[in-house]
Amino acid sequence: MKRYLITGASRGIGRAIAENLAGADVELLLHGRDTVALAEVCAAVKDRCAHVIRLIHDLAVPSGVSDLIDQVGKNPLELLVNNAGIAIVKPFCEITPIEWEQTVGVNITAPFMLMQRFAPHMPPGSSIVNILSIAAKTGFANWGAYCMSKFALEGFSQCVREELRDPKIRVINVYPAATDTDIWTQIEGKWPRHKMISPGDVANAVGYAISQPANVALENISISNLTGNL
Ligand SMILES: NC(=O)c1ccc[n+]([C@@H]2O[C@H](COP(=O)([O-])OP(=O)(O)OC[C@H]3O[C@@H](n4cnc5c(N)ncnc54)[C@H](OP(=O)(O)O)[C@@H]3O)[C@@H](O)[C@H]2O)c1
Repeated sequence: MKRYLITGASRGIGRAIAENLAGADVELLLHGRDTVALAEVCAAVKDRCAHVIRLIHDLAVPSGVSDLIDQVGKNPLELLVNNAGIAIVKPFCEITPIEWEQTVGVNITAPFMLMQRFAPHMPPGSSIVNILSIAAKTGFANWGAYCMSKFALEGFSQCVREELRDPKIRVINVYPAATDTDIWTQIEGKWPRHKMISPGDVANAVGYAISQPANVALENISISNLTGNL
């Protein structure tokens, strides 16, 4: 049986990835904070996979990440999906120290701690998927905290990728453009949902990359609506 850990699986892109990767030989370890939403996801996939485990932890603080690591336990993972993320969108002069720290915590420190803990025990052929963003490559007005975090994770994961070639672990970076999820509901402004891709589109790309033979690295995946960026 293969063990797959997906952070931020309670909704949006993480949920779609969980639904895409559910399989008879897979134990899904699904993380979130919203117990009701996560229970719904677990119910949706449980008949299609060997086992589902619910992990409820706040990744904004290192103690929450450590608790998640403890709950995952010692058995190795075949897949780690660093998906949980937050988007604070406002002029850079208005970003508070707490918002900055939370962004660093969820979007950078949590993936760092999870990769550092789990990668050394992953068997050859395993994969790490980092859900980055087009904001990992381009700056946008008012997206300073978010872009900072995605650029940082991008740099870190490029280095980890090189270190993990010898143990034959793939590091797959995914760069979605605007995707129609709840993340947009708390961002001020009118966002044209019809110009966004769906969470399922991102999940299909992840599923395809994971399904490649172990010696094939589909390492960088940019995915957007054909109409272009918002
Ligand atoms: N939507 C887009 O346009 C887009 C584009 C490019 C990249 N991305 C990236 O895709 C990833 C998923 O985003 P999404 O659009 O699916 O967002 P979403 O619908 O808002 O889901 C975010 C997920 O992250 C979890 N999360 C947030 N803060 C957390 C915290 N402090 N501790 C633990 N978990 C936390 C949420 O858990 P709970 O809800 O249970 O708290 C939820 O499962 C993020 O990394 C985001 O940056 C999104």
